[in-house]
Amino acid sequence: MFKYMLSSYKESENRSGVIKIYQQGAPSVLQYTKEVVPEPGPGQVQVRQAAIGLNFIDTYFRDGKFPVKSFPYTPGVEGAGTVEAVGPWVTDFKVGDRVGYHFIPGSYSEVRNVSTHQLITLPEDITFEQAAAILVKGFTARMLVRSIHQVSEGEVVLVHAAAGGVGSLVAKWAKSLGATVIGTVGSPKKRDNAIRNGADHVFLANCEGFANSVNEITKGKGVDVVYDGVGRDTFSQSVDLLHDGGKIVLYGSSSGQPEHINHASLRARDITLYTPALSAYITDYDSLQLYAADTFAAFHSGVFGDLSITKYPLSQVSQAHTDLESRLTTGLVILVP
Ligand SMILES: NC(=O)c1ccc[n+]([C@@H]2O[C@H](COP(=O)([O-])OP(=O)(O)OC[C@H]3O[C@@H](n4cnc5c(N)ncnc54)[C@H](OP(=O)(O)O)[C@@H]3O)[C@@H](O)[C@H]2O)c1
Repeated sequence: MFKYMLSSYKESENRSGVIKIYQQGAPSVLQYTKEVVPEPGPGQVQVRQAAIGLNFIDTYFRDGKFPVKSFPYTPGVEGAGTVEAVGPWVTDFKVGDRVGYHFIPGSYSEVRNVSTHQLITLPEDITFEQAAAILVKGFTARMLVRSIHQVSEGEVVLVHAAAGGVGSLVAKWAKSLGATVIGTVGSPKKRDNAIRNGADHVFLANCEGFANSVNEITKGKGVDVVYDGVGRDTFSQSVDLLHDGGKIVLYGSSSGQPEHINHASLRARDITLYTPALSAYITDYDSLQLYAADTFAAFHSGVFGDLSITKYPLSQVSQAHTDLESRLTTGLVILVP
């Protein structure tokens, strides 16, 4: 009897907060519950998460745009925290290590087990909240301004959603590489955020006179590169604003997929269209370490300046999704368990 009480007491002690969905749909499908996390398996560590990155892609796994393997399903792909337990055969991490990761599904939880080959050791001077804010988004920005197109001094770069997560880091990084940055935002309230993110010129998305203004800024030439994470609402305008021979990087579709892409007309103007996915650039341990090193170096050298981080309690993740999808968030959003 006593033994039974002791074990059930221990079990309730060990239950940790987690978000589950039992079907895909509106933000209300995100349910906060508690569960017992099993011991870490071979090659795994158990991480007590201090911060969890919120990414637009999380909404796709929640609403059904992307499939999930089975239900119940825990969304989220990014987190940072402290190793609390080490599974068999783990030699590269120990209890107390500060770690983060950028794409391991199931991150909306207080405590979770992760395989060590996908873990990054966090520098001492990066807080968990900063790490959870810049792993996915910083790595994506690194891919965009260094791998897809190496931004260089004197270029004119157009960044859509320049007050958002990835957009804000792309604007900052492109600016630090010497580009003139033109940013778009969805509402006047976001204008100052985009300016703080390094945009030299900020316009309301699809505002009247935007094309003329870009024409003036570029002295009639058109922009060199467009970083478009918005998609349907911006794509055709993005193409129009490029000079012949320019590049359009369609890396996301927060407004939906572009309805039609006229490849013949892109070819006729020698415009190169890229549709990159981070998973194709971070494919193994070495590329992961490279992206982490470059992103942390950018952080340390002040490329990102003061990070604008908005926090929601993990238990209020459905409000966070609602705000992200309603274009109410700015900057980098994290969930705090
Ligand atoms: N290719 C990759 O590997 C990769 C990796 C990470 C992220 N992404 C993509 O990058 C994009 C940005 O991700 P994020 O997590 O940093 O999100 P985010 O930029 O913080 O949020 C999305 C932003 O898109 C803008 N937007 C325009 N039309 C919208 C609409 N109809 N509904 C919602 N938002 C709209 C909003 O900014 P305004 O109101 O200012 O317009 C909103 O703040 C997403 O499309 C994501 O899928 C791609």
